[in-house]
Amino acid sequence: MNPTPRFPHFLHGGDYNPDQWLDHPEILEDDVRLMKKAHVNAVSIGIFSWARLEPEEGVYDFSWMDQIIHRLWDNGIRVVLATPSGARPAWMAEKYPEVLRVDDHFQRRHFGERHNHCPSSPVYRQKVRQMDTALAERYASHPGVILWHISNEFSGDCRCPLCTARFREWLEKKYQTLDALNKAWYTDFWAMRYTAWSQIEPPSPVGQNSNLSMILDWRRFSTWMCRDFIEMEKEAVRAADPSIPVTANLMERFWDYDYFSLAESIDVVSWDCYPLWTGKDDDATACDYAMNHDIMRSLKNQPFLLMESTPSNVNWKPVNKLKHPGMHLLSSMQAVAHGSCSVQYFQWRQGRGNAEMFHGAVVSHAGRDDTRVFRDVTEVGEVLETLDPLLYAAPVETPKVCILYDWESRWAVEYAQTGLSHGMQYHDTVLAHYHAFWEQGIPVDFRDMREVTDLSGYSLVIAPQLFMFRGGIEQKLEEFVRSGGHLVMTYFSGIVDEHNLAFLTDTPHALTHVLGVREAEMDALFPDESNAAVTSDGTAYPVSGICSLLELEGAQAFAIYQDDFYKGTPAITRHTYGEGEAWYLGARLTGESLDAFYQQLAQSLGIPRALDCDLPHGVTAHARGRVVFLENYSGKDQTFFPEGHWTDLLRGLPFDGHLPASTVRILTRDE
Ligand code: GAL
Repeated sequence: MNPTPRFPHFLHGGDYNPDQWLDHPEILEDDVRLMKKAHVNAVSIGIFSWARLEPEEGVYDFSWMDQIIHRLWDNGIRVVLATPSGARPAWMAEKYPEVLRVDDHFQRRHFGERHNHCPSSPVYRQKVRQMDTALAERYASHPGVILWHISNEFSGDCRCPLCTARFREWLEKKYQTLDALNKAWYTDFWAMRYTAWSQIEPPSPVGQNSNLSMILDWRRFSTWMCRDFIEMEKEAVRAADPSIPVTANLMERFWDYDYFSLAESIDVVSWDCYPLWTGKDDDATACDYAMNHDIMRSLKNQPFLLMESTPSNVNWKPVNKLKHPGMHLLSSMQAVAHGSCSVQYFQWRQGRGNAEMFHGAVVSHAGRDDTRVFRDVTEVGEVLETLDPLLYAAPVETPKVCILYDWESRWAVEYAQTGLSHGMQYHDTVLAHYHAFWEQGIPVDFRDMREVTDLSGYSLVIAPQLFMFRGGIEQKLEEFVRSGGHLVMTYFSGIVDEHNLAFLTDTPHALTHVLGVREAEMDALFPDESNAAVTSDGTAYPVSGICSLLELEGAQAFAIYQDDFYKGTPAITRHTYGEGEAWYLGARLTGESLDAFYQQLAQSLGIPRALDCDLPHGVTAHARGRVVFLENYSGKDQTFFPEGHWTDLLRGLPFDGHLPASTVRILTRDE
């Protein structure tokens, strides 16, 4: 799907806050000149503008926004129009305290900050609906408005009496009877049995905080509540013109809501991406953010928008580093390579005061256009224009590799009290598996366990720590392997059902015959302990953290433990099932050993890479359409020669094999 049908091009621009500059008309005029110079074609406005749009209850003032939108349009710059529900005016909080959120200690917040509304407050919903309707009626027919940006970075939850009541209603609808709820929550433990719906409160450190089944339902409820709020805003902005798509900007490594579910409530996925680049060996950071991009693309299996990134530094990391020369283009192209249809920034112009006055911006306080940052941003704008005819409409190809990444299972893994005391590190574990493919230039999709998930197009499916089974995933995986697919599953999989109740079977539940193995016990290792999984040809894969004890039920031991009382027992197994093959990694292979394991596997399955050659550490390649993005995050200059003849698109010259530190080369293969 084309994310912005009214303007089917790569977007370049970002968050623009003209409402901070209304007493500087000369600056607002100059903004447009500077935007054109920087090849900016779309800006997001109105994100935190409520106090200016409705200075008094029921008194709207759109005059300044009219002027801005018209001026932008006259100069060929489109608008991503935000609803301002991420922060509300002081008059509202004063008059209607119920709009403010109640925290996990059951304390109501005071006015100030942002992202702290109560999502169920009828007053808040009414005010938001009225504001959104007024915005839509005024601007939806404007040809310059190309996308609705609903609120900002939805997160967190509220524990006020209204939200508590909605939680109870949601539970009653789900379970129908208290008996069913008590069973699902295993409440015959520590006398937790409920005998009336009114006894149920949201989880809290000062209340119910151990019932993992209940906490899981709270996370599901919070997801539902956020979706319900988005649906309400969506309905309001769509009433005037349903043709403008709706997005909500998402975040990296996000935990609070199930993003696969939430993405069903928006038309376009967009997200805010803030890596910390050092300019030295940035391999790990680059891989982490490549995975974030791939997750975002996978949420709807569609191109996404990079809604925010910084043109230089941020102001909220422990160390707010500048980007090294080249890194801005490289990191922007990383997003494009993985499926973004935009490079947008926070922020266009640096604010004069308040919390984000030192956050990086395209235009800094001095308002100059001859800065390093301004030149870097202009370069990205020019490159996007060059790529537009080649890439914008290029279809997203289906990768051959799929990693199962499931928010509900992730919550359950992280809440589980077993294994490692610092948690089972779901996200980082998935990342370690992803790294092997990223570094080889092999594209990866992510899928979760909702019923809609279809695995049939993949050659290889990876299920790291798939602790919970839900949505019939056992049947899908069985069918996948039987019909010729290759599955890699790890320790700590298929242990609980969707209520977080242990399966009363061998594990991985209902798949032991497919894997030819069952997991009997799971050992956790101290940080200074290690082991190895040794293959019959003597290759030793170092392992750390987790070693599970496996019982073979038809599989072969591909590798056995080198040490400990389980020395010589299977650590990695392999089993032919139907037309396919199923692997079980009983131990947590270290990053490098996983890389080696998957390199061999991918090779044996003939999974294509973007470039047919081995890439140096910190260098990777990613294809989109006919174009290959060759990216160097190693912090060093590199020289190497891929198979075939390639043209360096931006230079219009044959690729000479030279890849300086922190650079990207955009290549097309010569016919
Ligand atoms: C984002 C947020 C922006 C801005 C930015 C600073 O998370 O959406 O409004 O605060 O961070 O990096």
